[in-house]
Amino acid sequence: MAGYSPANPESVFTYGAPHLKFGHGASEEIGYDLSQTGAKRVLVVTDPGVAATGSPQRVADQMTTFGIEAHVFDGAHVEPTDESLQFAVDWAREHGPWDAIVAVGGGSSIDTAKAVNLLTTNSGELMDYVNKPVGGGRAPENPLHPLIAVPTTTGTGAESTTICVLDVLSQKVKTGISHVRLRPTMAVVDPALTLTQPAGVTAAAGMDILCHALESYTARGYTTFERKQPEERVPYCGANPIADMWSEKAMSLLAESFREAVRDGSDEEARGRMAMAATFAGMGFGNAGVHIPHANAYPIAGRVKDFHPKDYPADEPMVPHGMSVALTAPEAFRFTFDANPERHRRAAQLLDPRADEPSDAAEYLPGVLTALMRDIDIPNGIGAVGYEESDIPDLVGGTMKQQRLLATAPKDVTEDDLAGVLTRSLDLW
Ligand SMILES: NC(=O)c1ccc[n+]([C@@H]2O[C@H](COP(=O)([O-])OP(=O)(O)OC[C@H]3O[C@@H](n4cnc5c(N)ncnc54)[C@H](O)[C@@H]3O)[C@@H](O)[C@H]2O)c1
Ligand SMILES: [Zn+2]
Repeated sequence: MAGYSPANPESVFTYGAPHLKFGHGASEEIGYDLSQTGAKRVLVVTDPGVAATGSPQRVADQMTTFGIEAHVFDGAHVEPTDESLQFAVDWAREHGPWDAIVAVGGGSSIDTAKAVNLLTTNSGELMDYVNKPVGGGRAPENPLHPLIAVPTTTGTGAESTTICVLDVLSQKVKTGISHVRLRPTMAVVDPALTLTQPAGVTAAAGMDILCHALESYTARGYTTFERKQPEERVPYCGANPIADMWSEKAMSLLAESFREAVRDGSDEEARGRMAMAATFAGMGFGNAGVHIPHANAYPIAGRVKDFHPKDYPADEPMVPHGMSVALTAPEAFRFTFDANPERHRRAAQLLDPRADEPSDAAEYLPGVLTALMRDIDIPNGIGAVGYEESDIPDLVGGTMKQQRLLATAPKDVTEDDLAGVLTRSLDLW
């Protein structure tokens, strides 16, 4: 195992998760669930694409039957920016006060709801709370409103996590707001709401699930950190026995459903397994953390030039989160293999029990990943989304800013290591 040797090793890890209601029809009980909180006026946050499926309005309508006044805000931006979050916060402040918030949508709507919740319960402005050094890194002083998160994609796990991800346009960086109070009070995961996800979204969001599971499973173990004081504890502890269990199960569920859900979106069994995989992976990475593929994803998404992925809003160029994570994953796991060969082998077996193990064990996991990516139509490397060799230094610079994520990598990562991973990811097959 490549070398972390803390003087005073950590012996404690933590586990946090929201209350969870899972299953077909779970979203039909939200009106009742909210009525139990005493809420009288509730804001439903969504984006225009999800609003068009009718699900957010159906959720709002149930509340009315319990005497709760519900308002739908459908202005969440797909992949939120500081400007889009500000717009949502201004709207919510102007039309409030609210007793509770419900997010119906993918990570974009859920993260928008987290920011709205924070800034309708606490003073100050968005940038005060954004992680340092981009923002002020302030912690909320007041408790937030109850937030029910209802994912309609099978991807981010944002319904379980303590972060809100945003693109700070002026600084060309993606970063987050991270605090335990941001975690939704309840996650309602209803696979029926995911049936309308287009194939391109299912593929990209599904790669996000896969990388959450794989990165937490291969993350630096919690005992390899120096022991923390109670006030220093962070939600991300590194790989630990509880997160490992969720990650392993998420990978097995993906093996049984990912290709099927992309090929036939109406396959209810596959959709159910994908929804469970997303939830399980969220519970894993939400406590262990992610590393190199996610760190690379931030500049890959943030510095996009002119790529327009199929099945996403066509008005602006974007590399969707799950796609931006996937594009360097095969090379990242080739690089981390020697830090823990057994975990990389086990992950490959879980993700594709039928794949033959190559004679060079380091090739096993990258091979399983690229075979899957080809089958579900993920672009062939960062070259296919518009990057060239001359962009590598800027991308490396952007990744190096994600030290919070790189700190969970299973071995030290230098600028040269990242340049190698990114260059070899220009095309993958
Ligand atoms: N907070 C976290 O823990 C966390 C973790 C990972 C990613 N993220 C963030 O989440 C965002 C990505 O979220 P996502 O991948 O879930 O997708 P998304 O919310 O960005 O949605 C993608 C597209 O799919 C559409 N869509 C969603 N559900 C649909 C449905 N059921 N039917 C039809 N269309 C549907 C949306 O309208 C949108 O056009 C990124 O901003 C990413 O950075 C957050
Ligand atoms: Zn992710």
